[in-house]
Amino acid sequence: MVGAGPYHGFTRRPTDSSLIRMRLPLLQLMLTLAAALPAAAQDVASADVLAGQRLFESQCVRCHGVGGTGGVGPALTRPTLRRAKDDAELVRVILGGIPGTAMIGFWNLSEQEGVQVAAYVRALGRRPPEVLPGDENRGRALVAGKGACLGCHVINGQGSGWAPDLSEVGLRLGGARLRESLVAPGALQPVSALPSVHGPYPAYLMVEATTAAGRVHAGTRVTEDDFVLVLREADGTIRSLEKTRLRKLVKRPAASPMPSYDGVLTGPELDDVVAYLASLRGAP
Ligand code: HEC
Ligand code: HEC
Repeated sequence: MVGAGPYHGFTRRPTDSSLIRMRLPLLQLMLTLAAALPAAAQDVASADVLAGQRLFESQCVRCHGVGGTGGVGPALTRPTLRRAKDDAELVRVILGGIPGTAMIGFWNLSEQEGVQVAAYVRALGRRPPEVLPGDENRGRALVAGKGACLGCHVINGQGSGWAPDLSEVGLRLGGARLRESLVAPGALQPVSALPSVHGPYPAYLMVEATTAAGRVHAGTRVTEDDFVLVLREADGTIRSLEKTRLRKLVKRPAASPMPSYDGVLTGPELDDVVAYLASLRGAP
């Protein structure tokens, strides 16, 4: 398309967000030109969506799920995105990331590729909303009653606990992922919002520490540095352990402090809970 090469000859430095702003007028020009040529623009638009899908599959699926159905990153199958109200902002989020979150900037993508991925993300948002089999109201009752979820989770101010707040979980996870988090917790752990040199790590890492005296303390890691490990035991006790005094320290990244509800809730009950969770989308 009109002289918009994929790369414009300046070096990308992740610290300088003004580079993204500099490229936006160009993007607006491209969009204006596309709007002036309706028939040709349609072809360009669908070619962009296809190219964008390929990029999405290689760069984004690991966090946003296949087809943008959600995972570590929020589901993108929504007509409006909180952090990207218009197309320019969407491209900016994709290329520049969201500081302080696991959404890193994609400085390896050219501006044109950014526009293509954005076109695909918008196409995802135009798909009809997912139809789920369960009953939302029965699900709400199960979460408060039989499931005893509110002992660990908070939903719209109800419940107590240290597990993730679920008030907006329906924005983040699609139906399949919600079900997976109930029957196979730990398969899809939320990651800490803090960027880490080791990449995103589970915010609810299970650890098992054996002291020199042979006592075993198992729980969820609260913090850890070179010298001290702080963990929370199942009954809520916070324990601080000096690492040099430990005989053994085992980390279980695939384990979860959340029990599996496979067999605890019946298939239809799981459907109901999933329908309820999917309806949790925060304040409108
Ligand atoms: C390492 C994980 C990770 C990868 C890879 C990733 N994202 Fe994200 N993304 C996130 C997280 C986490 C958030 C939510 C950040 C926040 O607002 O707290 C997010 C947010 C977003 C948002 C804003 C959603 C909203 O509701 O406003 C968009 C759009 C987005 N990502 C698109 C992409 C695209 C496109 C790619 C691939 C080029 C991508 N992301 C790759 C983790 C990731
Ligand atoms: C013993 C405490 C505990 C109980 C009980 C519990 N959970 Fe969890 N849950 C957690 C923890 C901790 C996490 C985060 C770690 C993980 O995903 O494994 C989690 C994660 C989740 C997630 C994924 C959240 C995200 O942001 O990715 C969902 C959804 C969820 N729980 C729903 C439920 C529902 C519904 C119930 C009741 C049927 C329930 N939980 C019962 C502790 C609990």
